[in-house]
Amino acid sequence: MSHSLVTMSYIIATILFILSLSGLSKQETARKGNYYGMLGMAIAIFATALSGYVTSYEVLLGALVIGGAIGARAALKVEMTQMPELVAIMHSLVGMAAVLVGYANFMDTSHPLIGVEKTIHEVEIYIGILIGAVTFSGSVIAFCKLSEKISGKPLLLPGRHLFNLGLLIGALVLGGIFLQQTESGLGIVPLAIMTAIALVFGVHMVMAIGGADMPVVVSMLNSYSGWAAAATGFMLNNDLLIVTGALVGSSGAILSYIMCRAMNRHFLSVIAGGFGTAAGGEAAVIEGEVQPIDADEAASLLLEAKSIMIIPGYGMAVAQAQHTVNEITKLLKEKGKKVGFGIHPVAGRMPGHMNVLLAEAKVPYDIVYEMDEINEDWAHVDVSIVIGANDIVNPSALDDPNSPIAGMPVLECWKGGTTIVLKRSMASGYAGVGNPLFVLENTRMLFGDANATMQAVLKALKG
Ligand code: TAP
Repeated sequence: MSHSLVTMSYIIATILFILSLSGLSKQETARKGNYYGMLGMAIAIFATALSGYVTSYEVLLGALVIGGAIGARAALKVEMTQMPELVAIMHSLVGMAAVLVGYANFMDTSHPLIGVEKTIHEVEIYIGILIGAVTFSGSVIAFCKLSEKISGKPLLLPGRHLFNLGLLIGALVLGGIFLQQTESGLGIVPLAIMTAIALVFGVHMVMAIGGADMPVVVSMLNSYSGWAAAATGFMLNNDLLIVTGALVGSSGAILSYIMCRAMNRHFLSVIAGGFGTAAGGEAAVIEGEVQPIDADEAASLLLEAKSIMIIPGYGMAVAQAQHTVNEITKLLKEKGKKVGFGIHPVAGRMPGHMNVLLAEAKVPYDIVYEMDEINEDWAHVDVSIVIGANDIVNPSALDDPNSPIAGMPVLECWKGGTTIVLKRSMASGYAGVGNPLFVLENTRMLFGDANATMQAVLKALKG
């Protein structure tokens, strides 16, 4: 393929990636956005394969088949609730690729460079490996925390900020040594030590972040993986990889900002770790009696209501209750009720988790509202149904300064009529804090698996 044809293909792929990102920003256009992304990636792979850089098509084909098979298997096998872990482990692969490409570039002596070009190339290698190693180890820890292989509690080492500062200074000093020593061939020593430092930093950074702040980590690692890909692009002299990496990096950074704003956190305090745990004192203990109801009583409350708000959370994903919820929504609408869905920005375990589930169940987009849209309007809601949600409807976020989720805006459903909470027990949610909503006078607890209970409610509504 001629050079200009490759460039043209890269430009088309870039445009498709931009269209994909803009499509993915709205539910109505998300499907189309995915198609643009897939097409862009197919063009990118073909153009790169035919660009003349490939020395062995056997190796390329082998890698494509193996990688494609692993990806297809993961996509088919993974449960919706495991999606965040899958995303985290995928980010770690991008980080690992950047590290490996960096070392391969460093050891490759087939294109000797001199002067400024050589220095620039070495800086690219150093930064690429640094970002890649942080992304790799940080993502592995995020994977372990999200899949509950290790505790979500923040690890707060004494003097952890000084430790981080020491690692940063160490990486900078080693960078200087690396640039001076590449002539002598000893550059591998500072490079290897820096890699170890970056790996430790990635582990420490994510270990120090509390469960409630994990949404920011997910989007932040998404951003890092983009910058790691961009660094790989610089090392491989591949413009498309640089642009694509920058797109992922900047959109991940914007998402982190949106997440921080949604949780009322400062990005730096999340990264510094242990946010909300340093306030001193214990989170308040929840005291009071819960008022359990059964599916028939819940159905009666719904039939009496005029306006109903459904608040889905992580438990709806676990129970796969979205289809039954959609059936109930259709039925209630047929009966002349006003039904809406209130979505908290960090509901579930990944950005947009609830929107994906509702879209899968074909819930119409125009009745799905964001938190800010409905928090003003609770006085007009007669009954709200909280389906497997906990932290996102916790009033203590607003009035208990010692709570790990203190300051996070929540869906203030208790300001409406009656709240029906569907969950299996009184267990806490991801942040591990008790929820005073469950013992409020206008709250009713409907215990059981969300899908089974929703089916019982549907039956009672039909009956
Ligand atoms: P959570 O606070 O984790 O609460 C989920 C609730 O669902 C649990 O209390 C659980 O109670 C219930 N549940 C689980 N399986 C169920 C089932 N089969 N049927 C019925 N209920 C079930 O979830 P949330 O309210 O959606 O809040 C999200 C939390 O995750 C926040 O703390 C957020 O910071 C964190 N987080 C979010 C993200 C993103 S990006 N969204 C990423 C990482 C972490 P039982 O066990 O009693 O049933």
